[in-house]
Amino acid sequence: MDFESLIDNNKLPRHIAIIMDGNGRWAKSKGRPRVMGHRAGVKTVRRITEACAKLGIEYLTLYAFSTENWKRPAFEVDALMRLLVETIHKEIKVLNKNNIRLRTIGDLDGLPARSRDAMRKAIRETASNDRMQLTLALNYSGRWEIVRAARAIAEAAREGHLTPDELDADRFASFLCTRDMPDPELLIRTSGETRLSNYLLWQLAYSEFYFTEIFWPDFMEKDLYEAIYVFQQRERRFGKTSEQLK
Ligand code: IPE
Ligand code: IPE
Ligand code: MG
Repeated sequence: MDFESLIDNNKLPRHIAIIMDGNGRWAKSKGRPRVMGHRAGVKTVRRITEACAKLGIEYLTLYAFSTENWKRPAFEVDALMRLLVETIHKEIKVLNKNNIRLRTIGDLDGLPARSRDAMRKAIRETASNDRMQLTLALNYSGRWEIVRAARAIAEAAREGHLTPDELDADRFASFLCTRDMPDPELLIRTSGETRLSNYLLWQLAYSEFYFTEIFWPDFMEKDLYEAIYVFQQRERRFGKTSEQLK
């Protein structure tokens, strides 16, 4: 089916979040080292970023490296960090050409200096682009982010900038890394896993989840269009009854 032509442009999600999963298994299925899967995964990032920008998606947030991913073998972590630097250097031009702003969420200070510097440079050099915001979750986890917010809130309270009764969901969210983004309406996870793996725990409270068996390196534009089409068929009730929405 040609899902692209079925997409309702007036009902696009503003923000899509993706857990890019299955690089390792994709490589293994071809008898190749896991790192080859990550290289192939970078191509999918490029493809899906461009497709989202063309559609008119405003925010795309990709899970690139979790705080738990440090537990992987050192050579895989090293390869991922090197791939990150290499990719960022190459992509700045393309991002600028496509008017895409790059951001990150996560603990950049915990990355190797070279990766951190490359990211900061790319963030700086794309800062005035405003067609779409591409956010990489790097050394990120939802619990890390929530604990960090709670600490900042405690600090603000101690300094007298905030009283406990002033704290509500909106104020809390203003302490998160995503403070200036809308919550994702749609979460996509590839590779058949059906868990959150510590991604955007606060922000995904009312998102629609879409799981596909396809490994990330094989995830094509048409698969993105299908996910968006399926999302558009869902009824988002936010606690109300179906009748109330009519
Ligand atoms: C996702 O693919 C990429 C990262 C976590 C960096 P995986 O590397 O998790 O691939 P699988 O899940 O082992 O197949
Ligand atoms: C989640 O994928 C993190 C990223 C995609 C970067 P993982 O492959 O690390 O998740 P688990 O460990 O299988 O839950
Ligand atoms: Mg995985």
